[in-house]
Amino acid sequence: MHTEPTGGVSRREILGTGAATASMLAAPAMAAVTPDKAREADPPLVRVMLTVNGKPENLTLDARTTLLDMAREHLKLTGSKKGCDHGQCGACTMIVEGRRVNSCLSLAVMHDGDTITTIEGLGTPDKLHPMQAAFVRHDGYQCGYCTPGQIVSAVAMLEEVRSGAPSFVSPDLEHAEYSDTEVRERMSGNLCRCAAYPNIVAAIGDVHAGKKS
Ligand code: FES
Ligand code: FES
Repeated sequence: MHTEPTGGVSRREILGTGAATASMLAAPAMAAVTPDKAREADPPLVRVMLTVNGKPENLTLDARTTLLDMAREHLKLTGSKKGCDHGQCGACTMIVEGRRVNSCLSLAVMHDGDTITTIEGLGTPDKLHPMQAAFVRHDGYQCGYCTPGQIVSAVAMLEEVRSGAPSFVSPDLEHAEYSDTEVRERMSGNLCRCAAYPNIVAAIGDVHAGKKS
């Protein structure tokens, strides 16, 4: 049979007192450790110099800043979109040193000295880039969220084909030949949840053919 300890103090009260004492003893130790830990957690800052849309930029950034966050948060270039932040949708595509890059996956500090083009660097509302104009002509979008990434990617993709990159669809071809299949394959990293794909391919075809209207 269960009995209470002598003196009318319950087992629960004893345990409760013990726990309180332990936490009181632990508190000073934690207080002594916390400031050091906080200092260790300060993000390291780095200087990064790059050229964005033709303009030299000299930034001091948390070393963990991605290219995408650098553009959106520090340069207020919000055209590049954060779709998945995991390298899976292409909404954040930028052209870095002539190559397409998922900017959500690339740290800004890795691009010190690089030249970067975002959607803002291709054209303006008054003077659209031919790819932007073709997307408008062909309704190459519905919600528009993926569109900046699609356009930037398409511009660089055409350059890849023109410069004789290997084919994605015919391994026996040393250089890619323009075709809708090649375009679809090469643009497969840019997802469109509105499924505007046929119109996007048509817009790219116009630019490839040099059509302006
Ligand atoms: S936001 Fe970068 S790939 Fe989706
Ligand atoms: S236009 Fe909506 S996701 Fe592509």
